[in-house]
Amino acid sequence: MRLKGKVGIVTGSGSGIGRGIALAMAKEGANIAIVDINEEKAKSTLQEINQYTEGMLFIKDISKKEYIEEIISEVVGKFGKLDILVNNAHASKQALFKETTMELFDLSFNTGFYPTFYFMKAAYPELKKSKGKVINFASGAGISGQPTQASYAAAKEAIRGITRVAANEWGPEGINVNIIAPIALTEGVKQWRQSASELYEQMINNIPLRRLGDPEQDIGRTAVFLASDDSDYITGQTIMVDGGSIKIY
Ligand SMILES: NC(=O)c1ccc[n+]([C@@H]2O[C@H](COP(=O)([O-])OP(=O)(O)OC[C@H]3O[C@@H](n4cnc5c(N)ncnc54)[C@H](O)[C@@H]3O)[C@@H](O)[C@H]2O)c1
Repeated sequence: MRLKGKVGIVTGSGSGIGRGIALAMAKEGANIAIVDINEEKAKSTLQEINQYTEGMLFIKDISKKEYIEEIISEVVGKFGKLDILVNNAHASKQALFKETTMELFDLSFNTGFYPTFYFMKAAYPELKKSKGKVINFASGAGISGQPTQASYAAAKEAIRGITRVAANEWGPEGINVNIIAPIALTEGVKQWRQSASELYEQMINNIPLRRLGDPEQDIGRTAVFLASDDSDYITGQTIMVDGGSIKIY
């Protein structure tokens, strides 16, 4: 029970990696607020969380900034504090650089970068009291500059930028701010695997550990570590949970 009595918010926890993190954290004793735009999926995660601890449900579009302070204050109103903030949700569309539009940048920044920034800002007073932990999300696609990912790469690298700034500013106050750059087998990837099996095999062969990560066992467990006291001396870092695909020196 490494997170016993802790309180966390996980955005995009209706499915995929967010769900894996919410479950891994609940199994370690944390109460988790689920924030997702997809009602059916978020309710299903809530049921799973409630088998272990107490969940809270927010069916919200996090690109709407006005919900963010409301979510933080309702979580603190119910549980009395906030220890963990996981900025996981992000939506984007791929396009060649020459076809990338302002609309694609808006989608990526409004669902990924700005919610991360506003959640961090709104959570800061509570995180300062709890000496809390922030976990943000980047991507190998941003770090390596994967083709067709201009809008996504830009938002993800912007998230890494503000994470390092916050780590420096908030370190003296005992707040840790880190990043996970994952590769995980989510529902979307499973569907893609069926329609593009050769490309899928190619991708696996480029991963030294020869498999995609499991949202709960691999990414969720890393998030538990970053949310726990065991990571107290780690801040401002990008943790690659990608089977060894990218090595940052
Ligand atoms: N899956 C991977 O291999 C991979 C690789 C690199 C980075 N990432 C990053 O990891 C994180 C999670 O990825 P995933 O594959 O689990 O994503 P996903 O698309 O499977 O799930 C994202 C969740 O966020 C929710 N969501 C989307 N837009 C929202 C909004 N505006 N408001 C509220 N909820 C919203 C969705 O409903 C969904 O439940 C993302 O930041 C992603 O960029 C994932």
